Amino acid sequence: MSLFITFEGGEGSGKSTQSRILYEKLAGLTLPAILTHEPGGTSLGSQLKNWLKWIDDKDIPPLTELLLFNASRSQLITEVIRPNLKSHKVVISDRYADSTIAYQGYGRGLDLATVKAVNDIATQRLKPDLTVLLDIPVNDGFTRKKGDKHDRFEQETLAFHQRVRKGFLKLAQQEPSRWLVIDATQSKDKIAQIIWQRVNQCLTIGR
Ligand SMILES: Nc1ncnc2c1ncn2[C@@H]1O[C@H](COP(=O)(O)OP(=O)(O)OP(=O)(O)O)[C@@H](O)[C@H]1O
Ligand SMILES: [Mg+2]
Repeated sequence: MSLFITFEGGEGSGKSTQSRILYEKLAGLTLPAILTHEPGGTSLGSQLKNWLKWIDDKDIPPLTELLLFNASRSQLITEVIRPNLKSHKVVISDRYADSTIAYQGYGRGLDLATVKAVNDIATQRLKPDLTVLLDIPVNDGFTRKKGDKHDRFEQETLAFHQRVRKGFLKLAQQEPSRWLVIDATQSKDKIAQIIWQRVNQCLTIGR
């Protein structure tokens, strides 16, 4: 069956860890699945990712940033997400359109209706069946991250990241049936267990 699952949350919240654990669990059960990520996931997308994260010029205007994320997304949907859903796979994405509402909308302060309108054009309204929000206090997430190189987003202020966190929580409140909100300060195993319980339900219902 096809199932589209996305992982969202702030910096260092465990998205990559948990999306990989889920992917490996499905693969272990020989359920056809793919794991992808945003921005990136295609060759065009990884170039855009490089610009978005590492370009020295800090002054990419928010609207340009919004369009670049959605260019990467549009390519990913066309090349990877839709074809794999069509061939009945479980598609797992480490970040997706909700990240843009949280970062460019709540974080950068772009008009939310504009962000949603551009997202809708890029996604052609393709929505995840399930979105896992790994919610963590901003400082706890940053403490977990290693390395001394900081990308354009990691260099942002505490207040920016707090707005992003609040944005994610608001989105989850608005659509509770799609979102699974998890306290991401819990252990990796505990979080993986909560996620698996929900995914297993989705797989059983869809069968
Ligand atoms: N539940 C957890 N408890 C403790 N450490 C964790 C937990 N989950 C992930 N980590 C560790 O925290 C760090 C960040 O995790 P991860 O890369 O999965 O987060 P992320 O949300 O993908 O971060 P980014 O925002 O950089 O993409 C890693 O070193 C990871 O091993
Ligand atoms: Mg990650």
